[in-house]
Amino acid sequence: MAACGVLFVCLGNICRSPTAEGVLRTRLAQAGLERHAHVDSAGTGAWHVGKAPDPRAQAAAARRGHDLSALRARQVGADDFVRFDYVLAMDDDNLAVLRRRCPPALQARLGALASWCSRFQATHIPDPWYGDEGDFEHVLDLVEDAVDGLMRELRGRVAR
Ligand code: 4NP
Repeated sequence: MAACGVLFVCLGNICRSPTAEGVLRTRLAQAGLERHAHVDSAGTGAWHVGKAPDPRAQAAAARRGHDLSALRARQVGADDFVRFDYVLAMDDDNLAVLRRRCPPALQARLGALASWCSRFQATHIPDPWYGDEGDFEHVLDLVEDAVDGLMRELRGRVAR
């Protein structure tokens, strides 16, 4: 199959979406499927463009074996809606911004990452920016659950 594109989107691209990118990269590598997907993350805002993920997000991810250190923040661009098959927002605010910016014909590519959760009943991945270590752990709990669901979908695409 052709490589499938997955873009994760949050507000700043320094906490939640790089975490999701790192977790999916880990899972794809563990499954030997890196070649079948291209993965990235971006923010709806531009304040943190060029920065590495927040040290708190990096530390929480590293405790679970996900390396975020090479990632750098960028803002969502118009071509992202063309390049990525799945454009997955962390919360309703991010999704509303994407809905406004995405061409009508590509709206079906947009969705909420939390909709892929199965162990947790979640509608969104809460913003941990003003939170503590426990909030960053909770982000990882939800993201790992959702990425497991997404991996089942991606494995299905590979098999087709
Ligand atoms: P993220 O978290 O959207 O998960 O990257 C945030 C990062 C920065 C800010 C807010 C949320 N900020 O206000 O600068």
